[in-house]
Amino acid sequence: MSARAGTFIAFEGGDGAGKSTQVERLAQALREAGREVVVTRQPGGTPLGGQLRELLLHGGGVGPRAEALVFAADKAQHVDEVICPALERGAVVVTDRYTDSAIAYQGAGRELDVDEVTRLQHWAVAGVLPDLTVLIDVDPAEGRRRRRGEQDRLEAEADAFHAAVREHFLAIAAAQPQRYLVVDAAQPPEAVATQVRDSLRKRGLL
Ligand code: TMP
Repeated sequence: MSARAGTFIAFEGGDGAGKSTQVERLAQALREAGREVVVTRQPGGTPLGGQLRELLLHGGGVGPRAEALVFAADKAQHVDEVICPALERGAVVVTDRYTDSAIAYQGAGRELDVDEVTRLQHWAVAGVLPDLTVLIDVDPAEGRRRRRGEQDRLEAEADAFHAAVREHFLAIAAAQPQRYLVVDAAQPPEAVATQVRDSLRKRGLL
């Protein structure tokens, strides 16, 4: 990871974890602390990413390796167009999902080789990794209960798929506790937001 002026924070977690709410709450706290904040998400966050998101979530069949490659393409564009320029000018970048989503969903969920998926993802983002990743940990059954309306292609996967994704997220976080904060999604959203802010303050990031 190269030296950079800004701070990079990623939120990860299963579908229905409530990440997007927490991304917005943290962004607001950072802005109140006087920081420039760039909120973004994957897939998406760039014009190309928006089109790839549509294909990935609402398009036709996508095989596991094609899926991993298209998610990687979204990330490569996102890093070049949004994340690196913002970090270089000293902003805080808060992203809703990043490389660990691919490692958990395409690696553990689709049962691709986790090391290969990890290498592909890290290549796609040119080695730019978050200073802190907040894992909002949700029980798959609870995540499904919270998701209302039409399910996208990945949300519609079986509970066993979502259980494998969750276990892998937790394993990634356990392997590098200094770079991860795991928060229980079963708490009220305000309690989750407080825990996230407290942890950032302790780490000197807020
Ligand atoms: P979301 O924006 O609602 O969280 O939906 C994105 C979906 O895409 C979610 O089911 C997780 C999945 N995903 C992957 O499978 N691999 C990835 O690399 C990323 C960023 C997301």
